[in-house]
Amino acid sequence: MDALTLLHQRSSMGKLGAPAPAGESLEAIYQAALRAPDHKELRPWRFVEFTGEGRERLGELYAEAEFQADPDVSDTVLASVRKKPLRAPMIIAVIARVTPDVPGVPRLEQVLSAGCAGHGILLAAHAQGFGAMWRSGKYAFDPVVHKGLGLKDDDELIGFLYLGTPGGRNKPVARHDTDDFVERWR
Ligand SMILES: Cc1cc2nc3c(=O)[nH]c(=O)nc-3n(C[C@H](O)[C@H](O)[C@H](O)COP(=O)(O)O)c2cc1C
Repeated sequence: MDALTLLHQRSSMGKLGAPAPAGESLEAIYQAALRAPDHKELRPWRFVEFTGEGRERLGELYAEAEFQADPDVSDTVLASVRKKPLRAPMIIAVIARVTPDVPGVPRLEQVLSAGCAGHGILLAAHAQGFGAMWRSGKYAFDPVVHKGLGLKDDDELIGFLYLGTPGGRNKPVARHDTDDFVERWR
């Protein structure tokens, strides 16, 4: 797949089965993430990869977050929350590891860099025939989840990227009119 086709055709895949990327394919995915634009080469990112029972540990963290928010939460809700990370054989949490007070590289730039790394992961997965979907949801912003994943005060959890083998066909990609978004100063 040539680069422009990839950029134009990437789409999210919510239905994901085994196998997850592994070996050289997975390494290629991380290498794509690590090529994200990065002002002053701060490498403002960290990735936590969940597979196998690691996904159940993540589900436990979600359940703990629910319980802390509402100690009366029902067992049914907790059981359903625990299953959320099982929707794909692999999840990569993308964390913006922000260094405060770097002259010329404000927090926003560092978070954007980590976002670009996330996009790199989606693109590299798609390029190799894997499916991927970026999800956040309330747990991405939950202090219990942040603590469990070792985020520091300045860090942001910018998403959980679900990865695996597509469980269906990629949806057709809509072509947008660039004139709706581009203002041209000539
Ligand atoms: C930061 C971020 C967080 C997202 N969180 C969710 C989410 O929690 N649930 C969801 O259904 N889609 C979420 N999305 C959107 C999907 O990943 C996806 O981009 C969207 O469904 C459009 O599909 P497409 O990527 O094929 O265009 C998020 C996207 C971004 C960039």
